[in-house]
Amino acid sequence: MCGIFGYINFLVDKTRGEIIDTLIDGLEKLEYRGYDSAGIAVDGDHKNDAAIIVKTPGKVENLKRKVNDEKVPRSTVFDNHVGIAHTRWATHGPATVINSHPHRSDPMGEFVIVHNGIISNYGVLRTFLLKKGFTFESDTDTEVIAKLFKHIYDSNLDEGLHPDLNQLTKLVLSELDGSYGLLVKSSHFPGEACGARKGSPLLVGVKTERKLKVDFVDVEYPETDTTSSTISNENFLLPPVSQQSESNLRTSQSRAFFSEDSIPMPIEFFFASDAASIIKHTKKVLYLQDDDIAHIFDGELHIHRATKKKNDESTTRTIETLEMELNQIMKGPYQHFMQKEIFEQTESTFNTMRGRVDFENHKITLGGLKSWLPTIRRCRRIIMIACGTSYHSCLATRSIFEELTDIPVSVELASDFLDRKSPVFRDDTIIFVSQSGETADSILALQYCLERGPLTIGVVNTVGSSISRQTHCGVHINAGPEIGVASTKAYTSQYIALVMVALSLSNDTISKVERHKEIIDGLQKIPQQIGQVLKLEDKIKQLCKNQLKDKKSLLLLGRGFQFATALEGALKIKEITYTHAEGVLAGELKHGVLALVDEQLPIIAFATRDSLFPNVMSAIEQVTARKGKPILVCNEGIEISKDKLMTTLEVPETVDCLQGLLNVIPVQLISYWLAVDRGINVDFPRNLAKSVTVT
Ligand code: F6R
Repeated sequence: MCGIFGYINFLVDKTRGEIIDTLIDGLEKLEYRGYDSAGIAVDGDHKNDAAIIVKTPGKVENLKRKVNDEKVPRSTVFDNHVGIAHTRWATHGPATVINSHPHRSDPMGEFVIVHNGIISNYGVLRTFLLKKGFTFESDTDTEVIAKLFKHIYDSNLDEGLHPDLNQLTKLVLSELDGSYGLLVKSSHFPGEACGARKGSPLLVGVKTERKLKVDFVDVEYPETDTTSSTISNENFLLPPVSQQSESNLRTSQSRAFFSEDSIPMPIEFFFASDAASIIKHTKKVLYLQDDDIAHIFDGELHIHRATKKKNDESTTRTIETLEMELNQIMKGPYQHFMQKEIFEQTESTFNTMRGRVDFENHKITLGGLKSWLPTIRRCRRIIMIACGTSYHSCLATRSIFEELTDIPVSVELASDFLDRKSPVFRDDTIIFVSQSGETADSILALQYCLERGPLTIGVVNTVGSSISRQTHCGVHINAGPEIGVASTKAYTSQYIALVMVALSLSNDTISKVERHKEIIDGLQKIPQQIGQVLKLEDKIKQLCKNQLKDKKSLLLLGRGFQFATALEGALKIKEITYTHAEGVLAGELKHGVLALVDEQLPIIAFATRDSLFPNVMSAIEQVTARKGKPILVCNEGIEISKDKLMTTLEVPETVDCLQGLLNVIPVQLISYWLAVDRGINVDFPRNLAKSVTVT
């Protein structure tokens, strides 16, 4: 759960200072992925010099300060240079200088690594390398990768073999179990870098005037059994030349990507965990797939496969042109990304529906699902799988899904689904909902399902992410990049996307026509109604400051469609205000939770008008009878004595199944302003990262 960034120039003059600034700027954009510590490695003054590594615990700001304090010389000019950088969210070992990335193979820094993911067999590798005489500086799993590079490189040299950086990377990767997105630079291979991914995202950005052509992805090396990662071949030698295919040699054939121009021209490459960090440099990106190795050498990008698997069909990669603009990922007039993203919901919800909902004829068209609808309609059941906020969007829409499709729907937390090894059948349809598309638990659940043959659908925000690529079909929610760690606009867009899926599955069902019309008319008004709810911000700000700031705990009560809102509100409050908060099904109150209620405990109750409104009101009576003074999220004109309440937060009325889209906004704002009042850095809450790429 870290961010990695790399920069390589070829025939482009840059001072070391400019290169450092590029790396640090990239890290700042990736900081949401982890912010326990940060570090960079840049070249020394001469070819084959050890890399200069600067790293520190804390945020990228600290790293910037440290680079200045250490007076790293800025003026040296390079026309070919490799810089790698990392922002960390600790998994193995606390956030200390020594555990920060980059990690090196030895004090001379012959090989330097940044890594995102977890190497699950690092214990075995560490023991092995200790026996070989290596000493370790850190507690991290990553350090074994750096040491392994050196060990394998030296072993090959001893045998008179000279692996290139790609071959070496391949040999190292074949020993690793677990997941990785990683970059390696080496003083033995100046001006070159390799990036590789398996389970953690990595993309390559390209900036050049060259005419670019993606031509060839090589498939090389003898077929290997990829399931066994052992250290039985203690010398890790290159296979004999006779076993290497022609394309294994560095010839024009093995170019994955080259210029059509015959003379070398300036080119810059970027590696990054996500596109937001490179967009200011280039919009041309190539998303690596699992088991890809991207080798940058002599101004060219070569894509290799780490292992050749049987039936490996992945033989093409395209360079995509990103649609997002830099201003889409900047804060604008807002104090925090979270605040910006809460306010963007008037637009993001509209964008989710843009071009898909025909409001006049009450029809939904989802291009990515169209040809799969008959298969989905025939399925035996639908399972929705997700984590955290994305899971709540599934809960929020389950009931309208069942109502419109007449197909039973269950909602699963990805980790629990896997823990139970829940049965999956070929005639199931499984929907994976994820903002990032990179959440490890959801990806593992997806892989588990793919092995069992059901149809899989991705409902994802991040184009090109693992879940969007690995599912059979899907819907992009088009909410735009979400940077704040607490998910807000992705929730409302996921919610709408799921409602649209349910609507499109029942487009032709006569008995549902009226309900369809009602929901689609409701959807049309949602962006503008969200705008109305956002006007509550000042009232909410005062409420947080004057009445909630010092509270230690909060209850959120909801029922029916609003149970998911209560759970989502509680999660938002926990994650960014560090206050205990619990979402409770209003009907369950009397079965235990009521014991907590007194005049001190703040309670937020969702009491908007739907068929369960009377039941919710009776739960509120139970609370007020025990001197509880709830905050009501309600529609206008509610009949209850205001003396019994702390306050009301009135939201417009919409169709029952869409009301959660409006009700969630006040709790997003409450969590935001409570966190601001408590001086918490809202966009970077402690212990959390935006993209949870570890299990
Ligand atoms: C909470 C939050 C997390 C994510 C969860 C799943 O605000 O952001 O609970 O919702 O980690 O992430 P995605 O949706 O990227 O799979």
